[in-house]
Amino acid sequence: MSIAEDPDRAPARSHLYAMGMSDEDMRRPTVGIATTWTGTMPCNLTHRELAAHVADGVRAAGGTPMEFNTIAVSDNLTMHTPGMRASLISREVIADSIELMGRAHGFDALVAIVGCDKTVPAAIMALARLDVPAVVLYSGSMMPGRWRGRDVTIQDMWEALGERAVGRLDQADLDDLARHACPGAGTCAAQYTANTMGAVADFLGLAPFGVGDIPAVAEEKNAAARRVGEIAMGALARDARPSRVLTEDALHNAIVSVAAMGGSTNAVLHLLAIAREAGLPLRVDRIGEVCREVPIITGLKPSGGEHTALDLWRAGGTSLVVRRLLAAGLLREDVTLVDGRTLAEVAADARERPGQAVVASVAEPFKPHGALAILRGSLAPDGCVLKLGGKQDFRHEGPAKVFDSEAECSAAIDAGQIVAGDVVVVRYEGPAGGPGMREMLSITGPLVGRGLGDSVALVTDGRFSGVSHGLVIGHVAPEAYHGGPIALVRDGDPVVVDSAAGTLDLVVPEEELERRRAAWRRPERAVERGVLTKYVATVGSASDGAVTT
Ligand code: FES
Repeated sequence: MSIAEDPDRAPARSHLYAMGMSDEDMRRPTVGIATTWTGTMPCNLTHRELAAHVADGVRAAGGTPMEFNTIAVSDNLTMHTPGMRASLISREVIADSIELMGRAHGFDALVAIVGCDKTVPAAIMALARLDVPAVVLYSGSMMPGRWRGRDVTIQDMWEALGERAVGRLDQADLDDLARHACPGAGTCAAQYTANTMGAVADFLGLAPFGVGDIPAVAEEKNAAARRVGEIAMGALARDARPSRVLTEDALHNAIVSVAAMGGSTNAVLHLLAIAREAGLPLRVDRIGEVCREVPIITGLKPSGGEHTALDLWRAGGTSLVVRRLLAAGLLREDVTLVDGRTLAEVAADARERPGQAVVASVAEPFKPHGALAILRGSLAPDGCVLKLGGKQDFRHEGPAKVFDSEAECSAAIDAGQIVAGDVVVVRYEGPAGGPGMREMLSITGPLVGRGLGDSVALVTDGRFSGVSHGLVIGHVAPEAYHGGPIALVRDGDPVVVDSAAGTLDLVVPEEELERRRAAWRRPERAVERGVLTKYVATVGSASDGAVTT
């Protein structure tokens, strides 16, 4: 019996009357609208406005909207600070928040408005748990900035730190760039983590193709948000619930999108976590296999080329990517899309801009295979993620320079102690060790800025920003905190990365490693309190998505 009819729920009705609802509103299906708005970042700044338009669409289609919001943590604002520990943890908190609101209020359908990196997988995880008809609305990318005659993004800001260190820019240049790099609301403006996951939401079938591509401040966005409200009511009518949408074929298509668009290493963590919530089998190695089979067909920063998300939207967006991938037989077509279309219809609806140079064909791609590889070896028995940058197949052997935190490594880079050929190892930054598996952009950015991006390898049990590029290997598992081999590396040990062979090895005799293992003790650290303590006690391996159980 609905809240409108149940005689015993009169006290509950009194609170709904207090919010301005009528009896008719209460008889209609309720659609929860989750926003991840916070006033602490540009990434999600438009969410409240979008929620109002979604609500209009819900009402127009016969539903009653109810809005609520969650926390969100900006990676860019917390990077290189202790606050970055909150970033990946926020994924779990956002997922739990949406789940709890869904369980509390029993919405008939849900719309999740997402933007900044963790908000996208978090919402999908929650929707999988709740399993009511649901739509994801990706709020959209920031416009690129313009500085000294070229388009710039947040990536340029971080690399400018390294350029300042070697004297190519001075502080006045850096400050001037900071005023121009990020011109308004929206997510980081190229194929970094947020846009990677926005595309994942499309290819999983939970977000309508063509909506997420629209930049955050484009005037078309509000009308698209209203349409999303209507789509949610359509999904309710068709019972398009996540358990029918999130299938193995849909997950395959999402992995293909990450490969084809040169997506972020964080997608590995998030895909694993989403698969787990949806009850779908996914081995981390499978992501690497798809990345070897699928070329990068979008010329987007940081892995495919120099274009921004705005360029992709103007060229034809992710719908055009679908057209190319379908033509090459790389997508599985037996999937359910939340707006009721088929992938073939999405491809047919794509509007390709004549002469565009952002989306290539599979036959003539920007790079021969995806931007990620999964490596295993004596340094990472449970796997790790290599971000393939300019060099797609390479072998790098060098002496280890070992740091027990991001801060120690950052100071060594600033002091000019890292030289070409080194293998920089940063450990105790994993999910439990950090805790929180911090991103290492304050290391990778300056390395690139100093011209060391192709000659120094970085190996860590932490993770990378989607902005990071260079020879970077993260998510090393098992992590140092749990006594993985990365905890046993010493300065000067030879480390070999071989992308073609898919290996990451520590070249130290087994007897010596055994001696070190026997002597290893987990380093003491300051006692954590609150959520960090809970996280350390419950978080699993990066090779399983760093989910909490
Ligand atoms: Fe929010 Fe990049 S920091 S999208």
